Amino acid sequence: MKDLFERIKNDKGPLGKWADVAEGYYVFPKLEGPISNRMLFNGKRVITWSINDYLGLANHPAVLKADGEAAAEHGMAYPMGARMMSGHTVFHEQLEKECAAFVEKEAAYLVNFGYQGMVSAIDALVTKNDVIVYDMDTHACIIDGVRLHAGKRFVYKHNDIESFEKNLKRATKMSEKTGGGILVISEVVFGMRGQQGKLKEIVALKKTYNFRLLVDDAHGFGTLGDQGKGTGFEQGVQEGIDVYFATFAKSMAGIGAFFAGDKEVIQYLQYNMRSQMFAKSLPMAMVKGALTRLEMLRTMPELKDKLWQNTNALQAGLKEAGFDLGNTETCITPVFLKGEIPEAMAMVNDLRENYGVFCSIVVYPVIPKGLIILRLIPTTTHTQEDIDETITAFSGIRSKLEGGVYKRIAASVAL
Ligand SMILES: Cc1ncc(COP(=O)(O)O)c(C=O)c1O
Repeated sequence: MKDLFERIKNDKGPLGKWADVAEGYYVFPKLEGPISNRMLFNGKRVITWSINDYLGLANHPAVLKADGEAAAEHGMAYPMGARMMSGHTVFHEQLEKECAAFVEKEAAYLVNFGYQGMVSAIDALVTKNDVIVYDMDTHACIIDGVRLHAGKRFVYKHNDIESFEKNLKRATKMSEKTGGGILVISEVVFGMRGQQGKLKEIVALKKTYNFRLLVDDAHGFGTLGDQGKGTGFEQGVQEGIDVYFATFAKSMAGIGAFFAGDKEVIQYLQYNMRSQMFAKSLPMAMVKGALTRLEMLRTMPELKDKLWQNTNALQAGLKEAGFDLGNTETCITPVFLKGEIPEAMAMVNDLRENYGVFCSIVVYPVIPKGLIILRLIPTTTHTQEDIDETITAFSGIRSKLEGGVYKRIAASVAL
């Protein structure tokens, strides 16, 4: 009989196999110093384009004060226990009320991590008779939630309404057989390429088909719509979203997330999301800190204005310099280049070490072979100088990439 760990020794997994060459640099890098537009990486100051702190709240004095005061008053443990047992407070309830009011839904419920919450929400919302229809290019938390589903599922081509409707038709036929309903799930700002989900078109199809819509607005919350109320407001169809999800991990620069929708549905989630029912409640510093952040979203429109000013300057500058940004419609700024993984590694190394620019790199299997995305997330804390330096750096590395320099470097160090 085989030892269970035999496989682990020989197969470290799709990412783990790169650990020896990549760990600490390409994966699990350590960005040090206060969260800002420039941080320390390997002891060098770099322009940081990968920290999702869209509104610059992570290090905002009002946020530091609120977090610090809550931690000093309650410690990081309070409240102890799961919400259901002993971890419930008036502040958790207040934050839920304020989140619901902000996104104009009847009720909201907090979850500790968006990822776990999404997995459990999907698990709770469907039974084996129900049918799921989802976009092929969605976040891992949606994929994992769908994996738990014991019934039928149909995946449609990324952001393709024709394919969506085709699969909706199939799902309708299937659910007529099983006697279940249909749950449609999509990210509404796609995290890698920055397009918005086709919410308007999806919601319009509710007139023809009977389905419920769950959306993940992780990147839209705080960045799109009036006051940053999200993609539903940006497209004018918030009412058509049945279950709205946003995380505090991005614009809110915190931890935690929430679902919002009709009271009955949210109460059902509260009593049926297993990853939340059997896990400790969000600590008070996160809850009180989130209340302060939400207040800032409501009352400081200049934050979102500055974010978009920076986004527009970055995207216009890159386009002017001839870069392909795909069809982003949000702050997420993907720069598409052509090359293999070893070249991409040599290029990112050059970008960090010699140009002082730190951004995320996306390669196969997340995107097709031969394609590289350098992904930039602008924030309010970036300056025009950061933008100009970055565009100059990108022009420099593009010339080297096209001239085969990184291919030769990669070959010489056997990347
Ligand atoms: C699109 C999307 N959904 C969900 C999550 C998970 O949220 P959290 O970090 O709160 O677990 C993320 C990452 O933060 C994300 O990018």
